[in-house]
Amino acid sequence: MTRDSTVCQVPKDTLVFIDEAYLDFADDPAKTTCLPLVKRYQNVAVLRTFSKAYGLANVRVGFAVMPVALAAILQKIRLPYNLNTLAQVAAVAALRDQDFVREAAAKNAVERAKWEDFFDQQGVKYFKSQANFIYFTVKNADELSQALLEKGFQVRHHLQPDWLRLTIGPAEDTTVMQALVADWLKQQA
Ligand SMILES: Cc1ncc(COP(=O)(O)O)c(C=O)c1O
Repeated sequence: MTRDSTVCQVPKDTLVFIDEAYLDFADDPAKTTCLPLVKRYQNVAVLRTFSKAYGLANVRVGFAVMPVALAAILQKIRLPYNLNTLAQVAAVAALRDQDFVREAAAKNAVERAKWEDFFDQQGVKYFKSQANFIYFTVKNADELSQALLEKGFQVRHHLQPDWLRLTIGPAEDTTVMQALVADWLKQQA
């Protein structure tokens, strides 16, 4: 199924909001983005955030790209509070610093590949990722998440039974976490 055929199945009066929060971490963001759909369909909007690859989660800033007519409607019904000036300045500066984003994505891709190699070696099932997190499954996942937490690493649990979601961090964290996971898996064997 292509991006186009997916959207074509949605009635014209149904809004389609496409969340591209993690797009910058994809191998080829320009090819992956759904932005071209905004030009073709009046009911499509693409959402972006500065909370991920831009590293500005605490600034609470993002933006949406949508047809002008749709923006005009949303403008009427949105909450009355505007984005504060500091957040706007930070967002514009961040947008201009694409080197930072590329570097963050490149570092993430290196660590992500290390995790995928690690899971392959350990025989652990995971979903290949284009983001800054990976879902993987082990038996007794709650125990592993608790063991990691006790060593200072918090992973998301309870999303699905026996599935965990780890966020990719710096190389030092990858090394320490992989050693902990490998030890834990050995104890389970
Ligand atoms: C899927 C997804 N979309 C969007 C966001 C955006 O978050 P924010 O409200 O920080 O812009 C997040 C953050 O966790 C997310 O996981």
